Amino acid sequence: MALLVEPLPQALGARVTGLDLTQPIDATTTAELREAWFAHLVLFFPELAPTDAQHIALGQVFGTLAATTQGDDDYRAQTTRGPGGEILVLDGAKERANAWHTDVTFTARPPVGSLLAMQTCPDRGGDTMWSNQYAAYDALSEPVRTLIDGLSAVHGRPGLTGMTSHPLVITHPGTGRRALYVNRGWTTRIEGVSMIESRAILEMLFDHSEKPEFTVRWTWRPGDAALWDNRCTMHYAVDDYGTETRVLHRVTIYDTPGDDTPD
Ligand code: SIN
Repeated sequence: MALLVEPLPQALGARVTGLDLTQPIDATTTAELREAWFAHLVLFFPELAPTDAQHIALGQVFGTLAATTQGDDDYRAQTTRGPGGEILVLDGAKERANAWHTDVTFTARPPVGSLLAMQTCPDRGGDTMWSNQYAAYDALSEPVRTLIDGLSAVHGRPGLTGMTSHPLVITHPGTGRRALYVNRGWTTRIEGVSMIESRAILEMLFDHSEKPEFTVRWTWRPGDAALWDNRCTMHYAVDDYGTETRVLHRVTIYDTPGDDTPD
């Protein structure tokens, strides 16, 4: 299999072509895919159109898949597919993810990645955006990096999700790079500071981490798939497709035993 990885001109992302999912994914291809994932943070596979089995097999290149219900996902209204419920069906008629977030950070061991495949594409609208949280961290001033380096924050919303704490900055185990690890969707309270301080610092970090300079935006075509690294990105599903149908399938990828964890 000859993969072609073409970096996009924005702050993150690469187009990957040449992946043949009718063949088993061999060791060389696995290594190339993982290297590209670490280098580019989000991989776009135009018109890949994976079957359920292929979607699961590709997700397993990057870690272990779990049934969405076991992951305590926030998508309560959605259904699942696959032999173990690994595939989450994201139907925009039921719920929309139009807030910057990182998947499932309200659990102690959040997923390391997600792989999304377009099933029913709206004729217009419904793009997804991703943000590079290495770049966001690097662009902070030294005094602010010093301030947040030792702090942790609670992720989760009482009554809706689990609650857990993560550092505001994590070191990616695969790249050794520092990434800002807060997201407007789930990060609710910095520990060890006053409520007023927490609110002000978080709001500043949210605004900073969502700046267009750190983002890439993908306009979906039928069959496109996108894989991202949850340890160094956030994403946002643009809600501009009105009543049009937009359905995607997502597998959520966890670290395999022995792999490093985010924090
Ligand atoms: C998600 O938040 O995992 C889904 C993103 C999308 O619907 O584009």
